[in-house]
Amino acid sequence: MVILISGRGSNMEAIIRAVQAGRIPNVSVRHVISNVADAPGMETARRHGIECSAISDMGELATRLRQLKPDIVCMAGFMRIVPPEIVREHTVLNIHPSLLPMYPGLHAQRQALEDDAKWSGCTVHYADEGVDTGPIIVQYAVPVRPDDTEESLSGRILEKEHVVYPHAVMLVAGRIARERAQVTGGGASTRQR
Ligand code: GRF
Repeated sequence: MVILISGRGSNMEAIIRAVQAGRIPNVSVRHVISNVADAPGMETARRHGIECSAISDMGELATRLRQLKPDIVCMAGFMRIVPPEIVREHTVLNIHPSLLPMYPGLHAQRQALEDDAKWSGCTVHYADEGVDTGPIIVQYAVPVRPDDTEESLSGRILEKEHVVYPHAVMLVAGRIARERAQVTGGGASTRQR
């Protein structure tokens, strides 16, 4: 698996911790790629012993992914739209801080507050060629409180993101292993890239 980040990388860290604790069978985090050279998440990834690299454009990202051939690519706070060829060639997941299809795009938590929503949450979905579109894998609903600020709501949603993203990776890795076992006629415990 490869994780794409642009900043803090707390979702990336939640996935790495889950993998390293053995909570996501048959998955290893092989590489973290950032489009921001000094993203704090890169330091976090290195602390966990994961190789990192920075890319400067989407062409370079496409080339790196072709070399690495990951089974799963997780966008975790990756603030770039990935080009269509990447979502066609790879299984790409994304996390978004709302109950999609509500509040796609930037400032999802602010959108929920401005809309007087009673509930928001987070969504992990397969990425397709759109922005925050693509089949939904898992969602976690979070109440919006009357006194919420963008910060307090973001924090409450983020806690659930850290639960839901590793869970979604586990589901997708399981699906890939089952599909592979059907094709090869072998067991479902093939180690994934
Ligand atoms: C998260 O809220 C995620 O849903 C959104 O960007 C934020 C990234 O946070 N796409 P982090 O870098 O994982 O800490």
